[in-house]
Amino acid sequence: MIKMNPHFAMLTSSYLFSRIAEKVNEHLKQNPDADIIKLGIGDVTRSLPEVSVKAMKRAADELGTEKAFRGYGPEQGYDFLRKAIAEHDYRGLDIEPDEIFISDGAKCDTGNFLDILAHDISVAVPDPVYPVYVDTNVMAGRATGYHHGRYEGLRYLEGTPDNDFIPTPPSDRVDLIYLCFPNNPTGAVATRDQLQVWVDYALGAGALILFDAAYERFISDRNIPRSIFEIKGAKECAVEFRSFSKTAGFTGTRCAFTVVPKVIRAADDHGKRHSLHALWNRRQSTKFNGVSYPVQRAAEAIYSPEGKREVDERISYYMRNARLIRDAVQRHGYNCWGGRNSPYVWIETGTDSWSFFDRLLYEASVVITPGVGFGRMGEGFIRISAFNSHENVEHALRRIEKAL
Ligand SMILES: Cc1ncc(COP(=O)(O)O)c(C=O)c1O
Repeated sequence: MIKMNPHFAMLTSSYLFSRIAEKVNEHLKQNPDADIIKLGIGDVTRSLPEVSVKAMKRAADELGTEKAFRGYGPEQGYDFLRKAIAEHDYRGLDIEPDEIFISDGAKCDTGNFLDILAHDISVAVPDPVYPVYVDTNVMAGRATGYHHGRYEGLRYLEGTPDNDFIPTPPSDRVDLIYLCFPNNPTGAVATRDQLQVWVDYALGAGALILFDAAYERFISDRNIPRSIFEIKGAKECAVEFRSFSKTAGFTGTRCAFTVVPKVIRAADDHGKRHSLHALWNRRQSTKFNGVSYPVQRAAEAIYSPEGKREVDERISYYMRNARLIRDAVQRHGYNCWGGRNSPYVWIETGTDSWSFFDRLLYEASVVITPGVGFGRMGEGFIRISAFNSHENVEHALRRIEKAL
């Protein structure tokens, strides 16, 4: 019999979403007429921008002609999209188009990036955390055990109300650090000074920061940095992941990108220095064949004036939901984070996460996400997502306010 990768045996099952589904199904069995509203999901609900749909159709038409047909594209992405991103997203930040790698998702890229790093590096992840960072490291064999909701072998950077869910660097050295701002699940955003502390730490420790900026487009406060590359020294120690998923409704269409500065070096066993950019390029050209041409044209279209307008309208739509959620829970005396510059609202429940989940499910037929599913430090919190229609959010909030 074929032998499995033993590291997969170490993974705990994806308990969070299966337990949510079980509880919802049970509730529906007992109350077949319950009109459940889901405020737990991280998927968007608004359509693709019209400019993207048009661009995709035009591109598909091109592919249907002998003259304009294109086969395999560049594994790193088409120049037209890499240039648009450099010009619009990184203007003034000294990022070259060829430092941008187009991909089919920030989720895949954050996981795949581990391919080019040594097995025996020390890894620090936030807690609470987007679970992909943890599970991909477990799959890569960096966990030696699992106790009380944490893997031995990984370092956890604790987010608490005291640090506003923005962990500070550890006192000792780690090699790889995951940061995510605006944060999923807490909605926290880091200031320039807070990010500078991390960059200085990474430069001092010779560490690499993997900076997940999948929710960057939700930042409206001009003082909050949108990119790690706005921080002095970050080009020498950070890789940035971004995505069109939440920005422009590409969760199903799939398009994202990763910025790997050319100056970053990684050492081999003999201390010889190698370009991280060259390693990632080698990895991508071997294991990836690029994002489809129509999808890259659709992504390019959001940088047009009309595209920007459509994206802005969608972001404002979701942020109105976030504001309503924040206002409602604060009116009832709950502490909350996020919901500003971020589509997630993180709420301190005063009870354990699952009891609060049960209360909202049974008394309001509303589904939220228990914070403990994002790590031990998430216990006592819940996440509510702004990705929904205004009608659903208003309706759900009326029910929640009655239940509280
Ligand atoms: C922090 C974070 N990064 C990345 C992703 C996934 O992005 P993509 O759809 O580009 O794979 C998500 C999706 O929920 C996310 O929350």
